[in-house]
Amino acid sequence: MAVISDHWPDIDVTLVDIDKEKIDAWNDRNLSNLPIYEPGLQEVVARNRDKNLFFSTNIKKGIKEADMIFISVNTPTKVSGLGAGYASDLKWVESSARLVAKYSEGYTIIVEKSTVPVKTAELIKEILTECQKDFDSINKNFSVLSSPEFLAEGTAIKDLENPDRVLIGGEDDKSINELKKIYKKWIPEEKILLTNIWSSELSKLIANAFLAQRVSSINSITALCEVTGAEIDEVVRSIGSDKRIGQKFLSPSPGFGGSCFKKDILNLVYLCRFYGLDKVADYWEQVMNINNWQKDRISTLIVHSFFGTLTNKKIVILGFAFKSNTNDIRESPAITIARNLIANGAHIVVNDPKVSKKQIEKELLLKEFEKDIISGGKWNFECDIFSGSKDADAILIITEWEEYTKLNWQKITKLMRKPTWIFDSRKIIPKEKLKKLNINFWQIGTSEN
Ligand code: UDX
Repeated sequence: MAVISDHWPDIDVTLVDIDKEKIDAWNDRNLSNLPIYEPGLQEVVARNRDKNLFFSTNIKKGIKEADMIFISVNTPTKVSGLGAGYASDLKWVESSARLVAKYSEGYTIIVEKSTVPVKTAELIKEILTECQKDFDSINKNFSVLSSPEFLAEGTAIKDLENPDRVLIGGEDDKSINELKKIYKKWIPEEKILLTNIWSSELSKLIANAFLAQRVSSINSITALCEVTGAEIDEVVRSIGSDKRIGQKFLSPSPGFGGSCFKKDILNLVYLCRFYGLDKVADYWEQVMNINNWQKDRISTLIVHSFFGTLTNKKIVILGFAFKSNTNDIRESPAITIARNLIANGAHIVVNDPKVSKKQIEKELLLKEFEKDIISGGKWNFECDIFSGSKDADAILIITEWEEYTKLNWQKITKLMRKPTWIFDSRKIIPKEKLKKLNINFWQIGTSEN
């Protein structure tokens, strides 16, 4: 939305949310307090805020004055009821639609931006039509479009400025053209794809499922390389040079995380099962299974490196974000791995350049782990890698932050206890550097461990 305001000084863009704390943070004079860390975002907000970009908790006013409303709410995986653990929970989409039905005036275009299971536009339409009957409907009518967001965190502004494509799914030309006009200001027309509403909704799920599948595919091969003598880098270079395969999304990792991949795959699995396509559901579920397996495999090999117990072992985790250049830790592989290590008795020291202690505390649900604390496992946060590494037995790299590629390993490993272990689950440290230091080194996808 901030990018739209940047390109359209004549259009007022208002973001409304019930969460006052969030809105206050978006309005904070100190731009480093914005709730999301994203390269380039502060600059866009600074340029437009309070000119044609506004953040407000006044939902009624926001909806009433809007000609076009983007629904960009959370659609988490359902935790109970029908489809629990797989299907997306649409309660926020539904309540947003009800608010739109209640407060909107005149002709309003509703654009569904959240990642939603197919046929959500239908739900929105139904709510709008039904609710209209309850309100003074003389002056209300709606068009519903689907325009899913393909930006990746960490490169969001770049992706929005120069997308591979944008999708507009819809039925009536008038609303489609209104939205197209907005995008056309900075996106070439050939990149604006018009589809029917279901294709648009489904395409978002499928794009994420295909990307996640690539990550799981390459991660499954890391394990094969480690036992057979092949090098994952060499395999990636070789297969990626085939134009049909391509270089992107082949970096080995401790597993994919983030707010979308898991949720979308589970949703796809649910959809397939719903339509009786069990074999298709099993196929996509395997992408999730490999992802979970990779996280467990890494935790287990660390425990094995210390002969089956981590009691009294201090392990430094470098990186808690699900990838670099973001402070987002949703579904980060660090969560599962840290929990596994704590459960095995380790004392975990976490460092991350952008993630706060409070965020980590919430994810590790420390209370649940009190029994592990009693058996020796605990964790703390450390901003300074050097003091964190003092007397540590191991360092585990989970996030590929650039600053971790430039660390002085000689200095760090001197501070650690012997036998010293470094585990590099992102393959970001040059092997040669560590070989000279006379320490134990494990790196993903290489047989020289
Ligand atoms: C993803 C999609 O890329 C984006 O189009 C969609 O709109 C939202 O979901 P995002 O979750 O921000 O974006 O991150 P992405 O860059 O796709 O990475 C997802 C996960 O896969 C991260 O944990 C990342 O570390 C991992 N990954 C990615 C790998 O392990 N290897 C790779 O080669 C690429």
